[in-house]
Amino acid sequence: MKIKNICCIGAGYVGGPTMSVLALKNPNIKVTVVDINQDRINSWNDENLGDLPIYEPGLEEIVNEARGRNLFFSTDVEKAIDEAEMIFISVNTPTKTYGKGKGMAADLKYIELCARQIAKVATTDKIVVEKSTLPVRTAQAIKDILDNTGNGVKFQILSNPEFLAEGTAVQDLLTPDRVLIGGEESEEGTIAMNSLVEIYATWIPKENILTTNVWSSELSKLVANAFLAQRVSSINAISELCEVTGADVGEVSRAIGMDSRIGPKFLKASVGFGGSCFQKDILNLVYIAKTYGLNEVADYWEQVIIMNDYQKRRFADNIVSTLYNTVSGKKITFLGWAFKKDTNDTRESAAIYVADALMNEQAEIIVYDPKVSEKRIYEDLDYLGSRSPEENRRLLKVVKDPYIASEEAHAIAILTEWDEFIEYDWKKIYDSVVKPAFVFDGRKLLDAELMSKIGFDYSSIGISK
Ligand code: NAD
Ligand code: UGA
Repeated sequence: MKIKNICCIGAGYVGGPTMSVLALKNPNIKVTVVDINQDRINSWNDENLGDLPIYEPGLEEIVNEARGRNLFFSTDVEKAIDEAEMIFISVNTPTKTYGKGKGMAADLKYIELCARQIAKVATTDKIVVEKSTLPVRTAQAIKDILDNTGNGVKFQILSNPEFLAEGTAVQDLLTPDRVLIGGEESEEGTIAMNSLVEIYATWIPKENILTTNVWSSELSKLVANAFLAQRVSSINAISELCEVTGADVGEVSRAIGMDSRIGPKFLKASVGFGGSCFQKDILNLVYIAKTYGLNEVADYWEQVIIMNDYQKRRFADNIVSTLYNTVSGKKITFLGWAFKKDTNDTRESAAIYVADALMNEQAEIIVYDPKVSEKRIYEDLDYLGSRSPEENRRLLKVVKDPYIASEEAHAIAILTEWDEFIEYDWKKIYDSVVKPAFVFDGRKLLDAELMSKIGFDYSSIGISK
């Protein structure tokens, strides 16, 4: 079955870049990305490509080429559903903040709304593709809704989880390690899977396109994120051991990563992992295990989150204890607010929690981040609800220049590994800060020897002082 029209519901960090690349590589398919957020759609349609809602290296060029040709962004959800033979669901699936499973289970209300809307609008057969990350067996719920509320047309549900990482989304989409497609084990299921395989095969070698049953595909996405996050928590646990024993966590990572069975990636000790998915997806996995009564399985994976929370807290505590046990009224400069470099996304960023802990100690925080807006930073803090919005604005200021941000600082903390931080004139910064000049490097980014030579009292995750 040849697909001519695709609709993607959700123009976020996944829907936007994924559909841009898919449209670029399939000029004969009309791809319409729809969202209920009018501002987001306006930004995707903005003449000025610098104003796209998402910052990703290489994305502007792709949007520039495909937009208006066969890639469209719109708020007319029903029209796009009606026209498409294949509909991707790429809406957000956050952790529930209420009711049963609060703080753990995935909130599937946006997914259900999409399913009901598709059922209502569809007057021809459709292939519905789960692109969002979902609890295993969600396809069953989507199918129930579609089959019981639809207009008698036929639906096939595929699971096609996305593995891109922010900051490298375009590269990850252009050359993915693999594409995973799960479908029903039937003739119709195979036809649906093949039609999606053909779309990806326009740019991805067929041997890298895996097909499985739906449940394996849904579960593999949660498991992939759990394994990745587990590596970060594992090396972060070792970072504290390094700090007290004189071992260097960078050297340990290198030494173990050269074992081809372990491999070198995802062994960078840090102030803690952030991002919209690792925590949410592990909590989701833990919740699923619990609902099946698998308590040991649940506890095993929950430890990855417990370790991550500890790492963020430990970083903040270390700043307070090093600054003579008080940071009240002291200016602490944060370099970086995004959860990793090369993205403007701040969801679950470690910086938010470290700032909150220091503000509880009445520190004054000055933030500089090359891509994150002031508005976003205050929204992140207000969302925590630790103090009033006025108090957040009194205790934390956002500055557009790193040198001004550092003036008269009692300490500088590096929260994101932006490349530009390495290139700064650290001598100039040293001259402008309060002495002793403390730097807390949460990303192992700077050259320890150079920093000490300039005169800084420099501490880095995983290295004893
Ligand atoms: P996002 O919040 O950036 O985007 C989701 C979009 O869906 C929003 O713009 C929202 O307005 C829209 N939306 C919600 N309900 C809608 C509806 N009924 N109709 C139309 N639009 C609707 O989220 P995201 O980061 O793109 O993540 C989407 C999914 O992809 C999640 O399940 C996530 O776990 C998964 N995922 C994310 C990443 C990542 O790096 N961000 C990577 C892989 C997978
Ligand atoms: C992660 C996965 O890498 C993607 O494969 C997945 O598709 C995505 O989640 C998702 O499902 O949302 P992302 O969160 O965008 O991607 O970014 P990562 O590169 O995985 O980084 C996550 C966090 O871990 C960041 O805060 C990063 O700084 C931290 N990290 C990563 C470390 O502290 N050390 C490392 O060695 C690697």
